[in-house]
Amino acid sequence: MKRFRLLTILLVLFPAFLFAGEGMWIPMLLQYNEKEMQEMGMRITADDIYSINHSSLKDAIVLFGGGCTGEIVSDQGLLLTNHHCGYDYIQRHSSVEHDYLTNGFWAMNRGEELPCPGLSVIFLREMRDVTEKVLYNINVDMPEDERQAKIDENIKKLIAKFEKETDYKVSIKPFFLGNEYYVLFNEIYTDVRLVGCPPSNIGKFGGDTDNWVWPRHTGDFSVFRVYADKNGHPAAYSDDNVPYKPAKHLDISLKGAEEGDFAFVFGYPARTNEYLPAVAVDQEANLIDPITVDLRGKVLDIYNQYQEQDPKVRIQYASKHASIGNGWKKWMGVTEGINHFHGVEKKQAFEQDFYDWAMQSRSRYMYVNLIRQFDKNYKELEPYQLAYTYLSEAGLRTELISFAGRFARLSEVTKDTPQEDIDRMLHQLKGTSESFFKDYYEPIDRDVAKMLLKEYLKAQPADFRPSFLNDIKEVNEYVDKLFDKTMFTDQAKVTALLDNFKVKDAKKLANDPALQVYQSLMGFFRNEVHGKMASITADNDRLRRIYMKGQMEMQTEKRLFPDANFTLRVTYGKIEGFKPQDGKTYRHFTTLEGIMQKENPDIYDYVVEPRLKELYNKKDYGRYADKDGTMHVAFTASVHTTGGNSGSPILNADGQLLGLNFDRCWEGTMSDLIYDPDICRNISVDIRYVLFIIDKFAGAGHLIDEMTIVE
Ligand code: ARG
Ligand code: ASP
Repeated sequence: MKRFRLLTILLVLFPAFLFAGEGMWIPMLLQYNEKEMQEMGMRITADDIYSINHSSLKDAIVLFGGGCTGEIVSDQGLLLTNHHCGYDYIQRHSSVEHDYLTNGFWAMNRGEELPCPGLSVIFLREMRDVTEKVLYNINVDMPEDERQAKIDENIKKLIAKFEKETDYKVSIKPFFLGNEYYVLFNEIYTDVRLVGCPPSNIGKFGGDTDNWVWPRHTGDFSVFRVYADKNGHPAAYSDDNVPYKPAKHLDISLKGAEEGDFAFVFGYPARTNEYLPAVAVDQEANLIDPITVDLRGKVLDIYNQYQEQDPKVRIQYASKHASIGNGWKKWMGVTEGINHFHGVEKKQAFEQDFYDWAMQSRSRYMYVNLIRQFDKNYKELEPYQLAYTYLSEAGLRTELISFAGRFARLSEVTKDTPQEDIDRMLHQLKGTSESFFKDYYEPIDRDVAKMLLKEYLKAQPADFRPSFLNDIKEVNEYVDKLFDKTMFTDQAKVTALLDNFKVKDAKKLANDPALQVYQSLMGFFRNEVHGKMASITADNDRLRRIYMKGQMEMQTEKRLFPDANFTLRVTYGKIEGFKPQDGKTYRHFTTLEGIMQKENPDIYDYVVEPRLKELYNKKDYGRYADKDGTMHVAFTASVHTTGGNSGSPILNADGQLLGLNFDRCWEGTMSDLIYDPDICRNISVDIRYVLFIIDKFAGAGHLIDEMTIVE
């Protein structure tokens, strides 16, 4: 690809950068953004958002269940997050008699709230910059393993020291790819109870069809409550626990927001890669993602075909379909977005400038060869990346093979293995196999295996693939034989084996053809892929750290933000729609009218609850209607978010809750690699729709009474 210098041209044409829209800012350093935020309309201060001297908005934000964000909305520990974030816990409490997924659930008093074992929420109490201490005695020319060992040692000592000073959970995380380090003091609450959720026809309205897409009409919320011991401290579930009293809970605005209004999101973005070299972006967007998309698309086609025929299969494969489909759709958007935006070329132009800058001074010697080294490393990495992609997307995607793999350890036990270890394995495997068979439909898996193994064979060279593939003569025949001979498709056999397991059965397990396929896949990965991949990746990590440092030194006029790393961040922008294509404009909000327009009783994703229709027909929206008289459902904003931000509050200029972030628009999913303020939009459910559902639809007004509502 040609290295034209677009960015340089842009920089010359527009020397003073307007607000770029992108950025995931560290809350303790927000004073550096305060001026810009206030110029954009914010009426509160950085100190109102994050402070360790008095209560601030941060005291209302939690990492929910290790993967999403939640926020506290009452002085009684009431918490809001997305429906898709609470989904697993709702599902666990659901049965045929109490189908909370289908019908929704509302605790009408505290006694009816449902405990959720395994669920935790984490509050950040404080963070501090400990870069100097972590990088103490580290010098630039140190060999990488020596450097890392020294860092690990410094971190260990620091954590031990902090742990003596506090009861909080202490962790130290790298920021800016290892150029800075921060210590985080967290408090983890494990008694969290389900309070309410709408039926899936509301909480998941539009389902996978609308996922990543605007216009959107999903009421993606669920309600929980955090409990603590009598002193407000974390405690294991107990009847004696009391609702947690937060230092701060969020006020809720019923005013909605206008196009152009300032808004910010406060939450836990998981991972971004905004400082990758062009070669890596190109590899991801134009090689790996398209392969993954293609393979997943073919799997989903098979799922669809069977799911349409049989309602039982539809339910069995709903969750698998959702999780495979989520990445499938997102990565399609990433490739489109990167190419449409000329992301690779823009990065290349920047790299040329970086090189020129590095050549200007002797003191920048360590930056001069970086790009060339990246190019070499990523080229070298390519076959391993491909091997890894086929291993996970084609090899292990066959459910039979990954299920059989779960028995690998059991197949290796000997008479010397302690009985308690065996018992523990058996216990776990019983659970695993029960949930596997509950949602397993063999004809789907056979078809998937046939399709995937053909793709695998077609794509990977004979001298670089797992050995079992080279022994296949005809794929369909091979797969049928595999499925006929293995015990892992037969629940009765698996159960019998687990119930009466003797050490001598290990051999029988090890000889099972499906487990052998698994071993062949993993053996190939261990022997041929892993080592090389890990060593190149480690070198890339080193190069990326140095490149990051260089970018920070070069662009002194621009404040850079550290990539997302599952720590609390503030991101901000405006309420606004966008132009996804020439001639097409998206308004920034949707209404209940759109739900009625999408309604289709024959399409699972578009079934509308009768009660919702009733309220719509009567226009019975109460105080939750917008001033235009309609019920607003969702809205978009130009706020930089990513996975993990789901459930995050989106707040107005006064720091009041406007909605819950739950997704991004497909056209802008490349924002994890490159942010384009013109088309990257996050999607939130309007808090007024959330309250309307709780109050008018579900009749759970007692929950609204707990909240602080600003009219
Ligand atoms: N795309 C959103 C995110 O990445 C929502 C996913 C859940 N919804 C779904 N229909 N699969 O998490
Ligand atoms: N839906 C994502 C989440 O669950 C959010 C995103 O990727 O924009 O965190």
